[in-house]
Amino acid sequence: MKVLSVASEAVPLAKTGGLADVVGALPAALKPLGVAMRVLLPGYPAVIGAARKAKKLRQYAELFGGPASIVGFEAAGLDLLVLDAPHLYDRPGGPYGPAGGGDWPDNWRRYAALGNAAADIAAGALGVWRPDVLHAHDWQAAMAPAYLRYGPAEGRVPSVMTVHNLAFQGQFAASIFPELGLPAEAMALDGVEYYGGVGFLKAGLQSASAITTVSPTYAQEIRTPAFGMGLDGLLNLRAADVFGVTNGIDVEVWNPAADTALASTFTPATLRKRETNRRAVEERFGISETDGPLACVISRLTWQKGMDLLSAEFDRLIGAGLRLAILGSGDTALQGALLAAAARHRGRAGVVIGYDEGLSHLMQGGCDAILVPSRFEPCGLTQLYGLRYGCVPVVARTGGLADTVIDANEAALSLGVATGIVFAPDSGEALVDAARRTAILFADRKAWTAMQKQGMRCDVSWERSAAKYANLYNALVTKGT
Ligand code: ADP
Ligand code: GLC
Repeated sequence: MKVLSVASEAVPLAKTGGLADVVGALPAALKPLGVAMRVLLPGYPAVIGAARKAKKLRQYAELFGGPASIVGFEAAGLDLLVLDAPHLYDRPGGPYGPAGGGDWPDNWRRYAALGNAAADIAAGALGVWRPDVLHAHDWQAAMAPAYLRYGPAEGRVPSVMTVHNLAFQGQFAASIFPELGLPAEAMALDGVEYYGGVGFLKAGLQSASAITTVSPTYAQEIRTPAFGMGLDGLLNLRAADVFGVTNGIDVEVWNPAADTALASTFTPATLRKRETNRRAVEERFGISETDGPLACVISRLTWQKGMDLLSAEFDRLIGAGLRLAILGSGDTALQGALLAAAARHRGRAGVVIGYDEGLSHLMQGGCDAILVPSRFEPCGLTQLYGLRYGCVPVVARTGGLADTVIDANEAALSLGVATGIVFAPDSGEALVDAARRTAILFADRKAWTAMQKQGMRCDVSWERSAAKYANLYNALVTKGT
């Protein structure tokens, strides 16, 4: 089984969020199941810079405004295909916009080109290698199934469209349509047209053979008006083709027994060694008080993640007995509000603004709990890292958070199956109440340690979910297009 995975990010080459972790981890997880996955990425400077012994596999005299080529090479354990198109991708800053924030104005062209190249590869343009299935991730790759659908029938392989976050849809003005190179009939309700413009994610959802999202609960939620972001109608029409597959994590990269970012590695049998890491976190965040659980937040600072609730309830969370270490970047107003809140509680709370992979590992390995107060969360990865590292997840009951953490209610505690604390989303009151429960449970050392160990026993690897993707690919190939 050969699969072309198409995405705008993959660790370690380009990352703004969990999408990159998933795209980067899937190929290795699928390999033992007989799936050979190649990943098509845009040729950002960091991606091109990783090229060693690159082979030019296809040349375009002109692709969306300039010459381009598809090159193949291996890097960071990934079998890569890269769309090298300097006019689209060779620029400083992040994948989607300049360093200061905002989006590149030509993002529609940059990701239409990616989808177009992916469909070409699926149709056999490389000659030497052609996939049996095309797997597109999020709106940036979502034009791939659409280009396949409107391309020549003999080139059509089945496709999977995975939604990592329905909030980002790639919605553009109708005026771009003539430049997409699609037949006129594609500008229709059952094509790429969306609210009078062109919707990339909408086009992918409409065109793909199957749709997946990254947890079963989110797969249900996105079919309701409250979470559907305007696409719930379409997702309901396609309900028979919508599946939830919970993300796993790379258990080699995230392994507390061998993590070089930790001050001290540990196992469930040597949990006490976490104290060395905790002290390192306290030092890094200027936290001198030692009573109460040290809770961390590792997050994009946005409304989705409930970071406004965190900042609004900061004083009460501290009052409930928590100490707080926060690592994040994003919204500048939230950054300021959190820094100011931490300054009010010097010695008990600290904030580091920025993106720091190593520090995030240390926090998981040293903090007592990780707080994830999201309003919606397709899957969420930081609570999975928390489970693996004995950093007890305290999470909102939504999406993948609801699917991966077992609340420490009376029944779960008495059976010994609790792995965290789960509270109602979108409510400051519920968040503060969860903080109180955390502090009370933490004071019961035996119960807390049992919960840490139970979490560390959870299978958060890709094993089960990779099998679900492999089964889906097989079913689609058997069914044909
Ligand atoms: P999302 O993709 O919506 O941001 P996820 O929980 O799926 O949420 O993934 C977030 C990923 O980004 C995780 O790997 C997390 O550890 C990482 N991350 C988020 N913020 C930071 C930060 N400031 N520093 C380091 N890692 C971060
Ligand atoms: C998105 C979601 C997050 C999910 C990640 C990987 O960024 O916001 O919940 O874990 O994709 O699928």
